[in-house]
Amino acid sequence: MLLIPAYSQQGLVTDHAMVVSAHPEASAVGRQILEQGGNAVDAAIATQFALAVVFPVAGNIGGGGFMVVRLQNGETATLDFREKAPSAATRNMYLDSTGQVDRNAITATQLASGVPGSVAGMWEAHQRYGSLPWAMLLQPAVDLAAKGFPVTEAQAGMLNRAGEDFRERNTRNTYLRRYGDWHAGDTLKQTDLAATLKRIQLEGRDGFYKGETARLIVEEMQAGNGIISYDDLANYDAVWRHPLQFRYHEYTIISMPPPSSGGVALAQLLGMLEPFDLTALGHNTPDYIHLVAHAEQLVYADRAKWLGDPDFYPVPQNRLTDTAYLHARMEGFDHTHATPSSDIAAGVPAGYESEQTTHFSIVDAQGNAVSLTTTLNDGYGSKVFVTGAGFLLNNEMDDFSAKPGEPNLYGLIGGEANAIEGNKRMLSSMTPSIVLQGDNLFMVTGTPGGSRIITSTMQSILNVTAFGMTMQESVSAPRFHHQWLPDEIQYEREGLSTAIQASLRRLGYTLAPKAPFCRVDAILVIPDGRLEGGADPRGDDTADGW
Ligand code: DON
Repeated sequence: MLLIPAYSQQGLVTDHAMVVSAHPEASAVGRQILEQGGNAVDAAIATQFALAVVFPVAGNIGGGGFMVVRLQNGETATLDFREKAPSAATRNMYLDSTGQVDRNAITATQLASGVPGSVAGMWEAHQRYGSLPWAMLLQPAVDLAAKGFPVTEAQAGMLNRAGEDFRERNTRNTYLRRYGDWHAGDTLKQTDLAATLKRIQLEGRDGFYKGETARLIVEEMQAGNGIISYDDLANYDAVWRHPLQFRYHEYTIISMPPPSSGGVALAQLLGMLEPFDLTALGHNTPDYIHLVAHAEQLVYADRAKWLGDPDFYPVPQNRLTDTAYLHARMEGFDHTHATPSSDIAAGVPAGYESEQTTHFSIVDAQGNAVSLTTTLNDGYGSKVFVTGAGFLLNNEMDDFSAKPGEPNLYGLIGGEANAIEGNKRMLSSMTPSIVLQGDNLFMVTGTPGGSRIITSTMQSILNVTAFGMTMQESVSAPRFHHQWLPDEIQYEREGLSTAIQASLRRLGYTLAPKAPFCRVDAILVIPDGRLEGGADPRGDDTADGW
């Protein structure tokens, strides 16, 4: 049975505007704001807050993310609202007495959280680009939290699976039912969260980083082993970064610079692949997968060494994305054999866990576009609630390299560039991106999926540009991924035929079948100027618009 629907399909096509997000209620909120005359940034803010209510596994106010904006007039901007290490954080804070990383402390306690950035990010985006009143953008989220909404079947399953952890790590929380499991259609009401959102609605960013909400966060820290202080909250700032922009054939891609590795890695991958005729190789053929996997090995080796928060480490961004450097890196490519990752650089293979982040794409009726990825890191973050405030905290500290060479949740390793330091931002893979063809908006794309975000975002672009797929086909198509270490090609189970698997093994690859991964939510401007949505069928993802 194919888990992923076959292609030959187009997604929702609209004439004017579109939102594609992880949850139908959140897409409807974005659409409603656009219909009321809001621009793409207004819709993004409303969608982000709505996702914090209706998609609590990854939507958040207790996490962080990145936003890429491209206005119809050509202006571009990238906003970094990534979490920061608390000021008291130190390099070896997660090492136990034997020098091992305490995996529980870094993922499942109050100490796992970076200082949340989402509310500051939305506030900053609104200050610069918002056109509707802030309070109006918060209202749908307040209503959804206060009145409740029906959970989907997928959500009921996720909530039930996390129930044990919620119970262990909290004295009280809204996602637990006193009697029995969640079922599709049950109403999830979040009264404490509604009150917190109301404070944010009335007081702006201060409604989160100061006053009652700040007090509840600091109390939650003190109830466990957490170290986020009042000052950490008051001092948190979202930062406008210089957009990372590069050419690929006739396209220009605008993506996120460090502290995400996403834009640099995407630029490296596409720069390495540009000299090759991908169309002639064919989609997901062994030769294509071999070529792409080799480039991925090289890129993830660079990521582990060179990428981190540019405010703390001199990331050689220009050198890493230089065309001559990228072509030189590919010189060792052998058409007939896989290169063992140990020949690319030495390292330690790694294990995996579940993945949950969320991405949405928006285009408004004027042609302004927003690409936004946000996360708590793991599903439901640390699964620690801020008691009384009704929201979950992130476990983003695990995105730092807690110990050189030690794999994190996604099997990623790192070193000096991504070592822990007070107030530093942890390296991310999130790759919200906007693609232009010539000077015109072409695609808005991105995805959750931990380390696999970068390569899946790349495939969403190549599937259209090299293989002529529709946006929906591109999003639905089976994916594969190599991240240097562990030295294996991960692929979606059922996504590669046994013949292709055999060819790849003959080339020397180890194959690792995985459950379907990533949730790409993307928008394509089709030749007649209308918009086609690609909503990922692997989740409840929904395109909405008019
Ligand atoms: O920023 C990052 O790269 C990770 N914290 C993202 C985690 C993620 O995508 C989980 N996914 N589905």
